[in-house]
Amino acid sequence: MSKLLIDGGRVLGGEAKVQGSKNSALPILAASLLAKNESVFFGCPRLSDVDSSVKILRYLGCKVAQDGHTLTVNSSTLGIDDIPEPLMRLMRSSIIYAGALLASVGSARLTFPGGCELGPRPIDLHLSSLKKLGAEITERHGELIFKAPKGLKGSKISLSFPSVGATENIIIAASKAKGTTIITNAAREPEITDLADYLNSCGAHIEGAGEGTIVIEGREHFYGCCHSIIPDRIVAATLMSASAVTGSEIILDSVIKSHLDAIIPCFEQAGCDVKFDKQKMKINSPKRLKSLGLIRTTPYPGFPTDAQAPLMAVAAVGEGITVFSENIFESRYKHVGEFIRLGADIKVEGKVALVQGVKKLYSAPLCAKDLRGSAALAVAALSAEGTTEIDTTEYLERGYEELDVVLSNLGASVKKI
Ligand code: EPZ
Repeated sequence: MSKLLIDGGRVLGGEAKVQGSKNSALPILAASLLAKNESVFFGCPRLSDVDSSVKILRYLGCKVAQDGHTLTVNSSTLGIDDIPEPLMRLMRSSIIYAGALLASVGSARLTFPGGCELGPRPIDLHLSSLKKLGAEITERHGELIFKAPKGLKGSKISLSFPSVGATENIIIAASKAKGTTIITNAAREPEITDLADYLNSCGAHIEGAGEGTIVIEGREHFYGCCHSIIPDRIVAATLMSASAVTGSEIILDSVIKSHLDAIIPCFEQAGCDVKFDKQKMKINSPKRLKSLGLIRTTPYPGFPTDAQAPLMAVAAVGEGITVFSENIFESRYKHVGEFIRLGADIKVEGKVALVQGVKKLYSAPLCAKDLRGSAALAVAALSAEGTTEIDTTEYLERGYEELDVVLSNLGASVKKI
């Protein structure tokens, strides 16, 4: 596996285009199983998690072609309903194929999914919801067998937690169920809306995506269509963090302001100036950042848990105390130990991390532990004096398309070895 070598202390400048959203592309690729023929996806990011999805789709018998950021999926040759464990373990969102296979072929044989270790990542809400839609599920030797002998039937489903993945699984399965499905306490992330937009273009009837209550009228026939993936709001937040820690002014192209409504105020509190011109954002950061105050992660439209690590890199060099409260995942502070190697002053107590900003960080050999944490280490390294080595880019490549190239094009000294 490769490593990143980052020489810190450089001021950045210029413009970067934000990639398509990983967390939108993954469920949409699973949903493409429902379409009788070909779907074409534009702005699909080139990531290892997308490669994993392509492996699963091809294993299931779909024809998939990739040309840069355009991905074509033809599910007319979809033939089997099982996904072997090595493929299921590649990422968390492989569990979405339960709903997609139940809706398209009527059964599924999967195992428990993989994904970043952010604490236990149960799938109870996925399973209980699919049962409500008529699925019979047996768990044996780590295998999950889904059957729907009487087909899927619409149902009222109230989620005890607005789980993103469970909401997506329900939307996909219910799109072809007989009758109406009403989801209450649904996740409201923009990636849910993007999934619903794609499925509606294929012939689904989904209303209320992006709200807490979603109503789905089942439909029988779905036809592939063209769909552009929305930009990745977490990658945008990560590049904003790179600007902040280097006191730089950069322009980000392909940004949707409303997706960042909970993130922008944190940067403004730290002293950054953020301006928009249509889908372009200009962020101008001061040489000396202030603290970010209190940041608590909550379901959308609140502050996203995925941006917690990148913004902690900003807080690490902001003057004063920033307090993080991580309310979504049980163990999402693995980057703290690595930040401390750079000289950061951070104390973790349960779900709270208390960050006392320091004047300067100093390079050190670092170990990446999960996807967003590894991006946050790269951001912190941009401001650390000296050359920081980050061992392995394996996690990074799951969610960031060529982050080394993007940062180098902005003037950073980043080498992948
Ligand atoms: C999605 O994960 C994202 N992944 C995550 O991004 C993101 O952090 C998360 O949503 C929250 O926004 C993808 O979209 C592929 P959840 P997901 O179901 O669907 C608990 C990244 O870095 N829960 O909303 O797994 C769960 O344990 C990744 O891009 C249950 O208890 O998130 C967690 O504590 C990391 N039972 C909380 O809900 C369930 O059945 C949020 O999980 C499902 C979830």
